[in-house]
Amino acid sequence: MTISSLTPRPLIAGNWKMNGLTEALDQARAVAAALDAKPVGARVAICPPSTLLHRLAQILEGSTVLTGGQDCHPQVCGPHTGDVSAPMLVDAGATLVILGHSERREAHGETSALVATKVGAALAAGLEPIVCVGESLAQREAGLAVALVTAQVRDSLPAALAGQAFAVAYEPIWAIGTGRTATVADIEAMHAAIRAQLAAMFGEAGKTPPILYGGSVKADNAVEILGAAEVGGALVGGASLKASDFLAIIAAA
Ligand code: 13P
Repeated sequence: MTISSLTPRPLIAGNWKMNGLTEALDQARAVAAALDAKPVGARVAICPPSTLLHRLAQILEGSTVLTGGQDCHPQVCGPHTGDVSAPMLVDAGATLVILGHSERREAHGETSALVATKVGAALAAGLEPIVCVGESLAQREAGLAVALVTAQVRDSLPAALAGQAFAVAYEPIWAIGTGRTATVADIEAMHAAIRAQLAAMFGEAGKTPPILYGGSVKADNAVEILGAAEVGGALVGGASLKASDFLAIIAAA
């Protein structure tokens, strides 16, 4: 990927989802050590489960690898058992947060309107949101993918994002954890539609936020996917759990 002075550095973010006990921190140590020894052009982040967040941030301190959360509550604090707020993520050492992942939209009934309030909370706390969008297989087969994803972008991104650092991650649900990826043509068509929507919402400021692709990104498809038009990085699930796999993807950016 060529990086012009106008294009932000690509972002490669690892989403560990609900995976990782203490020994998983060794993988993060290995990623940080490798990037320290051989710096890369991409920005790199690891988003562990909340239980590892603080320890991960301590391990990554002084390295180039950023720490991110996987969700936050719209409120700062209060009676919300089991939830984590944006200021708590910052307190634990996070600088980014994934919001609106399809697994949360599906399993926790998160609507785009709710995601937009979480984005507002993340911004207020100083976090850089990575806002996820993506269609199901049924929606794609019905020819609804572009309209649905465009609406998710419109409704999940509040006006307060104008001029702020953020990323959008396009993750077709049917490609997540399945080993299937969208074709480069489909990725480019969707990323172009997302870029057009961002430009319609934010004008000039909508032209620069990176649009990440997610869904079975692996070492063997990363060069092709990351080389596609308007792909500004990747949100990586399974292949981010092992340092060697994740580093191979980072090297492709
Ligand atoms: P996989 O890379 O395991 O398909 O997961 C993608 C994802 O959901 C990242 O948020």
